[in-house]
Amino acid sequence: MPKKDDIKIFKGLENIYICETSISFIDGKEGKLVYRGIPVEVLAEKSTYEEVVFFLWFGHLPRKDELEEFEDEMKSARKLDEEMKDMIEKFKTSHPMDLLRTIVSIMGLSNSEKKKSDEEKALEIISKVPTAVAYHHRISMGEKPLEPSDELDHASNFYYMMTGRSPDEKISRIMNATLILHAEQGLNASTFSAIVISSTLSDLYSAITGAVGALKGPLHGGANEKVMELVEKIGKPENVESEIEKMIAQKHRIPGFGHRIYKTFDPRYRILKRYSKEMVRNDEDERYYRIVERMEEEVLKKLSGKGIFPNVDLYSGILYKFLGFDRRFYTAVFAVARLAGWIAHIFEYSKMNKIIRPCGYYVGPMDVEYKPLEERE
Ligand SMILES: CC(C)(COP(=O)(O)OP(=O)(O)OC[C@H]1O[C@@H](n2cnc3c(N)ncnc32)[C@H](O)[C@@H]1OP(=O)(O)O)[C@@H](O)C(=O)NCCC(=O)NCCS
Repeated sequence: MPKKDDIKIFKGLENIYICETSISFIDGKEGKLVYRGIPVEVLAEKSTYEEVVFFLWFGHLPRKDELEEFEDEMKSARKLDEEMKDMIEKFKTSHPMDLLRTIVSIMGLSNSEKKKSDEEKALEIISKVPTAVAYHHRISMGEKPLEPSDELDHASNFYYMMTGRSPDEKISRIMNATLILHAEQGLNASTFSAIVISSTLSDLYSAITGAVGALKGPLHGGANEKVMELVEKIGKPENVESEIEKMIAQKHRIPGFGHRIYKTFDPRYRILKRYSKEMVRNDEDERYYRIVERMEEEVLKKLSGKGIFPNVDLYSGILYKFLGFDRRFYTAVFAVARLAGWIAHIFEYSKMNKIIRPCGYYVGPMDVEYKPLEERE
C-alpha cells in the first residue's frame, strides 16, 4: 500500500478531469456556460429543445432536413404502451422521481430483447419519458391523462400533456428555454453516474436509471423541490431574513444556492428569474416571487463572500409553479430536460471508453483474527 503522504485524496473528485469532452464548457469564475461553443443564453432564446438535443448528441447544428427528420422521429416515439400506463396508475402515489427511475428501468426490460441501436433507444427514452412524467402528473392531480399532440414541438407538447392547456407563443418559448437551460451541465453527479455505469459496457437504460437516482438527491436536482418547500415554509417576504439567518447559524445548506463550479452567478439563473417575473399573474404569484427575491438578497449579502450565489434551482421551482406544475414533479421536469446531456455524454465517453474505477485509501485494521460466532462478545 502506498504511504498516505505519497497519495492525494480528492474529496468529491473536486477539480479532477477524467476525460476530454466537446459537449459543454462552464466558466465558473465568469459565470458562462456554452454548449459546443454556443452560449446557452443564445440557444435558450433562439433554438428549440429538439435542435439542442441533436446538437449535443451529434456534434453539429442540424440542417433543415436533418432537423425535420429528427423531430418526426421524436414525435413518432412519444406514445406510451398500455402496460406502462397501467404501471404508472398502479404506483401513482409514489414520488415522481421514484416512479421515473422505475419507468426507465421498465423501458429497458421491454426493449432488452429487441435489436435496437443505442441511438434508437436514446430517441425512445427522450421521447417517451416526458409523456410518462406528464401521465403521472395528470393522474396524481386527479385529471384525465392526455395523449401526445403531433401538432406541437417537444417542449410545448410536454406543457400541454402536463397541464391540459395549449401553450401560446410565449409559453412555448419559456418551455423550450427551460428545457434547453437544463439540458446539459458537464460531468455533474448524475451525468457522471451515467458514464460510470456505461463505462462497464452496461446498457443505456441502466445508465439513465442510475442518473435519475443521482439527480433526485437534494444536493443536486432535488434542490428545486426543496426551494419551493422552503418558500412555502417562509410564507411571506418579511420572514425571509430571520429564516435565512437561522439556517446559516445552524449551518444548514440553503437550497437554490452554491455550486461546485460556479463561484459567481449561474447564467441560467438570470434567464429563469426573468421568465418567473414575466409569469407573475396574481397577488399569490407576486408573494412567491418576492420571497425568492428576498432570499436571493439575503443570501448574497451574507454568503457571496464565500462564493455562494444563486444557482439554476432558485427560480426554476416558482417558474414551474407559475406554469401549473405540481411541486413534487419539479425534479422530474429537470430530468426530462437533462436526458439530452446524459445521453450525449454516454455517447461521447463510450467512444474513448475506459472503465471508471477510482481508489479509496484503506485506513482500517489489518491482520484481524476471525473469531468463531460463539466466542464473540
Ligand atoms: C451544490 C453544493 C452541493 C456544492 O457543494 P460543494 O461544491 O461540495 O461545496 P462545499 O460543500 O465545499 O461548500 C463550501 C462552503 O460553502 C458552504 N455552502 C455551500 N453551499 C451552501 C448553501 N447552499 N447554503 C449555505 N452554505 C453553503 C458549505 O457549508 C461550506 O462551508 P464551510 O467551508 O464553512 O464548511 C452546495 O453548494 C449545496 O449543498 N447547495 C445547496 C443545494 C443546491 O442548491 N443544489 C443544487 C446545485 S445546482
